[in-house]
Amino acid sequence: MPGTAREIGYSSRRRVRIRGRDFLKLQDFSAEEIWSILKLSKKLKSARGRRAAGKPLRGKNVALIFEKHSTRTRVSFELAVAELGGTPIYLSKAEMQLGRGETIEDTARVLSRYVHLVMARVYRYETLERLASAASIPVVNGLSDINHPLQTLADLQTIWERFRRLRGLTIAWVGDGNNVCNSILVGASKLGVNVRVACPEGYEPDERFLEWARANAEETGSSIEILREPEEAVRDADVVMTDVFVSMGQEEERERRMEVFYPTYQVNQALMAKAKPTAIFMHPLPAHRNEEVTDEVIDGPQSAVWDQAENRLHTAKALLSLLL
Ligand code: CP
Ligand code: NVA
Repeated sequence: MPGTAREIGYSSRRRVRIRGRDFLKLQDFSAEEIWSILKLSKKLKSARGRRAAGKPLRGKNVALIFEKHSTRTRVSFELAVAELGGTPIYLSKAEMQLGRGETIEDTARVLSRYVHLVMARVYRYETLERLASAASIPVVNGLSDINHPLQTLADLQTIWERFRRLRGLTIAWVGDGNNVCNSILVGASKLGVNVRVACPEGYEPDERFLEWARANAEETGSSIEILREPEEAVRDADVVMTDVFVSMGQEEERERRMEVFYPTYQVNQALMAKAKPTAIFMHPLPAHRNEEVTDEVIDGPQSAVWDQAENRLHTAKALLSLLL
């Protein structure tokens, strides 16, 4: 049936296993399920704006709760819902009764009567678990203190596009072992990508995420390494990734963090030169230019950051289509 959702593959058998589930952490999803999101995302990217993409979210409403700032997550999700034919509703915590003391559980129960899915960006991961346990609709993690699985979907799609494969590639993460790092460890290891993290002592990734990543790596034959020296991590790497030294919610630690990270963990041209000549540079954005990455690198020929940001839209559309 040309011109229908069937054409794009929404009705693949795999959808059955993702539909209706929460998307809180990648460890809950199999490699096959993650691949099904990436493959659908690729199709949706090439079908963008064409009728063949269909409107699988027609009649569906999606609430987007933000406790923190956002540019990419907000815009990509609002557009993803709208392009798929649904209605997005942006909710800033400060303007909700949630911001005046209504519980997250009561908020979840009420939203479940209005909308078909809720995405939330929160300070504490525990808030997502409480939201998900009280809601009768799928809950999607739009970033928490410990992880950012939506970002990993876009990262994996970007790497796949650039290298036409994932298994066997090596990602060097340089800097803070933060929320974005925790998620890439799990997502990459599920798909057989090696990850080397170079971080200062005391700023390692979360122990649970590391355990999951190591177990995944053992299954897929990939490797997970925690190192101190950025040079050692990037040697012959295919992808060099970093993120801000001070994440949202850590503003008070800024001075201490800058002392620890800067300039040792900055990704500059000299560091990029130690990776493979074909290596790409990635950053979830927003970047603090000339702190964790120099202008020369982020604006240079190896930078994949704009594709990476664009892929937030396509992966969000794929995930939403499969969950709903
Ligand atoms: N990468 C990312 O999540 O960006 P925003 O904070 O702008 O949503
Ligand atoms: N680590 C950053 C990522 C922003 C997308 C933060 O949590 O602020």
